[in-house]
Amino acid sequence: MRWLLIFLSVMFSKSVLAEDSGKVLFNQLCANCHVSQRGKRIAPPMFAVKQHVKMAYPKREEFIHRIVGWVKEPDAEIALMQGAVKKFGVMPKQDIDDKALRRVAGYLYE
Ligand code: HEC
Repeated sequence: MRWLLIFLSVMFSKSVLAEDSGKVLFNQLCANCHVSQRGKRIAPPMFAVKQHVKMAYPKREEFIHRIVGWVKEPDAEIALMQGAVKKFGVMPKQDIDDKALRRVAGYLYE
């Protein structure tokens, strides 16, 4: 029983941490462009990005796969947001490791 409690509390604190760091990573890596700064826009707002990607990739795993692939290799030809590509230009490639990106993507999916 004691071990079960310890196990559960470790599991619980881990999942909370993972969620937090997805959010923290998003704020560090994506928010600069995807959250408007004093009304100035240089990229579409994240809720709109999320909506587009979720519509095309409704399953969690596919959604994460798409986000990870996109951030490492953005490509106007496969962009879902053609209007945004015209308006802002294609997103610059971001050099971020897969593990961090998966966390950001998981956070965005929730
Ligand atoms: C330097 C600015 C910049 C940063 C940093 C940035 N983005 Fe973007 N992003 C853009 C712009 C501009 C677009 C709109 C044009 C496009 O779709 O390529 C975009 C579009 C997107 C799209 C839509 C792709 C599509 O199919 O059209 C996704 C998904 C995305 N960003 C995810 C992210 C994530 C996740 C991060 C952080 C890891 C991030 N972006 C960081 C500028 C940025």
